[in-house]
Amino acid sequence: MALQSTNPTTTKAWSNIQAHFSEIKDVHLKELFKTNPKRAEELTVIWDDFYVDFSKNRITDKTLELLFELANELNLKDAISKYFEGDIINKSEGRAVLHTALRETKDAQVFVNGENVIPGVFQVKEKIKNFTDAVVSGSHKGFSGHQITDIVNIGIGGSDLGPAMVVDSLQFYKNHLNTHFVSNVDGDHYQEIVKNLNPETTLFVIVSKTFTTQETLSNAKSIREWFLQSQPKEAVANHFVAVSTNVESVKNFGIAESNIFPMKDWVGGRFSLWSAVGLSISLAIGYDNFESLLTGAHKMDVHFKTSDFEKNIPVISALLTIWYNNFFEAESEAVIPYTQYLNQFATYLQQGIMESNGKSVDRNGNEVNYQTGTLIWGEPGTNSQHAFFQLIHQGTKLIPTDFIGFVKSLHGNKDHHDKLMSNYFAQTEALMNGKTEAEVLEELADATNDQKQMLLPFKKFEGNKPTTSILIQQLTPESLGKLIAMYEHKIFVQGIIWNIFSYDQFGVELGKKLAKNILEDLHSTEIKNQHDSSTQNLINFYKNHN
Ligand code: F6P
Repeated sequence: MALQSTNPTTTKAWSNIQAHFSEIKDVHLKELFKTNPKRAEELTVIWDDFYVDFSKNRITDKTLELLFELANELNLKDAISKYFEGDIINKSEGRAVLHTALRETKDAQVFVNGENVIPGVFQVKEKIKNFTDAVVSGSHKGFSGHQITDIVNIGIGGSDLGPAMVVDSLQFYKNHLNTHFVSNVDGDHYQEIVKNLNPETTLFVIVSKTFTTQETLSNAKSIREWFLQSQPKEAVANHFVAVSTNVESVKNFGIAESNIFPMKDWVGGRFSLWSAVGLSISLAIGYDNFESLLTGAHKMDVHFKTSDFEKNIPVISALLTIWYNNFFEAESEAVIPYTQYLNQFATYLQQGIMESNGKSVDRNGNEVNYQTGTLIWGEPGTNSQHAFFQLIHQGTKLIPTDFIGFVKSLHGNKDHHDKLMSNYFAQTEALMNGKTEAEVLEELADATNDQKQMLLPFKKFEGNKPTTSILIQQLTPESLGKLIAMYEHKIFVQGIIWNIFSYDQFGVELGKKLAKNILEDLHSTEIKNQHDSSTQNLINFYKNHN
């Protein structure tokens, strides 16, 4: 059954939220804390090893109540069931959206076109496990009999960002294998990576859901040519494996069927790290850790599916985006992890969030008359404090920010960790409180009156900047799985409320098609395709100076 399609702005809840917004939009967070001493407890959700404090958001009980009414009026509960049960909710591509099935338990049953997909999921997991064990233990050898030392993941978008982010984030858990990622069609990218590799000890994992992506196929071909410069053709079987739904094209590329790790079309590229796309993750941290990542995601799935909205982390988090995006007219959200390990987390989320919800047509095919997808960005703290935090504190834009941190560090240097976390807590406090005139004057106690007059406007600031504090016990494969799944479900809820299809990405296709035409023009003596004069001149200049 299809998802309901209702313009959210036509609901009763939306008008109520609008009226409520006019009443509380200028209320300061400090005031809200003053009037309710229990605010922090009431607006914190403690679940498993997650402590999520929503209290520094510009909301009251009434705000949440109205946002839940909106979710109910738009039948969110029913949509969640359809999502997990394999309904064709990706209607524009005619597919189910079932990355959640990839982390299900063995006894679960999830049907697509009448077939339970879980046994197939476990078959592929078994193949990932066996291959991982063989490579890690050294029983899978290179053609010349050497053990594998290096893994190169060749893929782009969802076939790169998820595995790259997870491997980087979980580097503490890594085994002896060195892992590299080649994504850009920029030839310098792959050449910088292969220049230091020994083909006899390297395994290449070509990852492409469609196996038609220009970047990945070009990189795979060039890397295979580089490999064959020093190795015999028969060696390809020991050194190249592939992950794809398009088994025929992979075979045509020259990879034996036994070296193909299949995936299904009901797994969206940007949600695919849980599938065989995660092979590089499994190789890098070992299969058991990969399994823990899946377990964490599954636990978050259960939390999301079964918790009341009042205690549901992804639901509250998504509704807050609606609140800021559609009522405060905030254009972006920042995600700031207080751990260097999550260096690539915001980049990873950019695809998940912006490729999914960057849509302007609703599920009925009509142009939307309200804002949808937010811009997402971020960098780890404390580095980002010394880069762009000034704008969040004193700029003209409202930027709701997620702070993510861990109670315990991994290497255990408590002195550093206390410093790191004191910065996390201090930033959320500073963003909320700002600096009053009295505080500035106290700070300027020794200054002359003229200096005080001059500096006061610059030094005082309003605060009232919303933040959500996510505090997790420790960064483990399981907790990372929960965190990623939390954002996946947040994306889903946003799409339901905005009445858009979150699981297609037609906008990306046009550029790919035009690039093909232009490549043709770059390769021929005259320009055959029609272009505007700007593009035409760029092509000519490039060709003439090449
Ligand atoms: O950028 C568009 C896109 O289709 C993404 O959605 C996808 O993750 C990426 O390209 C790579 O696609 P594939 O895995 O088919 O090579």
